[in-house]
Amino acid sequence: MSLRLKTILGIAIIEAILLLLLISMTLDYLRETNYEGLIKRASTTATLFATTSKNAVLSYDLASLESFVNEVLKNPDLVYARVLGPGGQVFAEAGDKNALATPFHSDTEVETVHDSIFDTFADISEGGETYGRVEIGLDIKSLKSTIDEAQNKSATIAALEMSLVALFSLILGTYLTRQLKFLSAAAKSISSGDLGVQIPVKGQDEIAEVAHAFNAMAFSLKEVSERRDEVESQLKELNRSLEERVSQRTEELVLKNSELEHANREIKDAQAKLLQSEKMASVGVLAAGVAHEINNPLGFVISNLTTLENYVNNYRVLVAEYQKLFELKDSMARKEQYLRIQQSINDFDLEFMNEDLTELLRDTQEGSVRVKDIVKGLKAFSHVDQSDEMQLADINECITTTLKVANNELKYHCQLDLQLGELPKTYCLPGQIKQVLLNLFMNASHAIQEKGVINVSSSLEGDNIEISVRDNGCGIPKESISKLFDPFFTTKQVGEGTGLGLAISYGIIVDEHKGDIRVTSVEGEGTCFTVVLPLKPNLSDPT
Ligand SMILES: Nc1ncnc2c1ncn2[C@@H]1O[C@H](COP(=O)(O)OP(=O)(O)OP(=O)(O)O)[C@@H](O)[C@H]1O
Ligand SMILES: [Mg+2]
Repeated sequence: MSLRLKTILGIAIIEAILLLLLISMTLDYLRETNYEGLIKRASTTATLFATTSKNAVLSYDLASLESFVNEVLKNPDLVYARVLGPGGQVFAEAGDKNALATPFHSDTEVETVHDSIFDTFADISEGGETYGRVEIGLDIKSLKSTIDEAQNKSATIAALEMSLVALFSLILGTYLTRQLKFLSAAAKSISSGDLGVQIPVKGQDEIAEVAHAFNAMAFSLKEVSERRDEVESQLKELNRSLEERVSQRTEELVLKNSELEHANREIKDAQAKLLQSEKMASVGVLAAGVAHEINNPLGFVISNLTTLENYVNNYRVLVAEYQKLFELKDSMARKEQYLRIQQSINDFDLEFMNEDLTELLRDTQEGSVRVKDIVKGLKAFSHVDQSDEMQLADINECITTTLKVANNELKYHCQLDLQLGELPKTYCLPGQIKQVLLNLFMNASHAIQEKGVINVSSSLEGDNIEISVRDNGCGIPKESISKLFDPFFTTKQVGEGTGLGLAISYGIIVDEHKGDIRVTSVEGEGTCFTVVLPLKPNLSDPT
């Protein structure tokens, strides 16, 4: 059902109800007052008529009564009049024949009248005695027609008003719905994306205000939408340039990454070379001591060999003379030869030579073994680890092997105090651990100017293996402690040290083995370096 129809129907129904209420109340009031007036008039007329007729009735003056009846009938609306005697006999009557012929029946209410005549009576009494009565009939047709007319007029006015109201409602509804249609069409246009829509505004009523508000809303919506489109396009642009920059950056990063990878490889190569050269430098420092070490046994091996050569020559001479003795048959000649042999034995001091020979051979052998050991140690130490892979190794064995190599350097001015605790084997890079230890031993030896003690100890402390190298040498000044692990920090003369020993050791212990190197030192009293190695009994162990 349309709004217009609803409005019309609503207003018409309310109007109809109100009008019906008004009309019915008015008509009721009209009827009531008219009926009351009629009843009053009838009663007054009857009473007056009775009073007028009283004397004529009492005197039985029929002629007067006749004239009274006629006189009373002059009253408008009076249909009939009758005067009755005490026994109910008619004294006089006049009026409508039909009405007079109808038996009298007194009416009290106008509504209950069926024959259009309101019948009433009044007693003729005197001194409390009734002498007769008058009966009259009043025509109520004109009254009823007046009321009917009023009813008809009211109905006509009501119908007219309802029509007018309906017409006005129709016009108003049409106007309203037309404006609403504009609004709904405009709203539909906006929802379908046409934000430029505007409603035509007429007049200055509330509808016009709504239209104004709607137009303002559409306008600001359009503005907002335009702004949003603008921002959206700016965002898209930003996004595109961001993507471009990201991809450009990504490319740059990929390039940088490959450069870094390359640099990393180069650094690793350089590190490996550095490690090797540091090792070689350590070996170089060792070389002087080693040369001296090898020179000693080699010296007496060579001098022993010269003596041995003399002894061999002597033996050859003796063997040749014995051979000659066996070949001689003549007893005289044999005797002479025998004396010669005896002389040679005395000359060569055979007894001493025999004893000395054993000693010389033993010393030569010992010297050769020592040289062999030194060479073996150097060879083992300078051997480059072919793989970077961790191996299960005995740290105490690393300490003793390294000490053997370093001992050539230490033994002349250092007393070695070795205290090795019981250690489980651990996964490590033994070649590199030995390099760290050698540097610590060499540093300790260099710190001791004249005579001193180097304590080397190992122990298992919780999940770590700890190796301490303590010396009672010169110590390290406080300000140098923080620089110890810097590459090329050295206090040694050119050729004596490169300053790489501790820097490389730090890389090996901290980076490769995830361990630590701790230093405590008092200047003038000595230094203690402690290498902490996390125990790694399994290769899969993350430490
Ligand atoms: N036990 C120590 N006592 C006193 N000073 C030490 C001790 N150990 C190291 N130093 C100081 O630390 C410096 C750096 O030692 P590092 O082992 O790194 O290099 P270097 O011994 O000088 O040279 P390289 O080891 O390369 O031959 C040494 O020059 C020395 O001054
Ligand atoms: Mg060093």
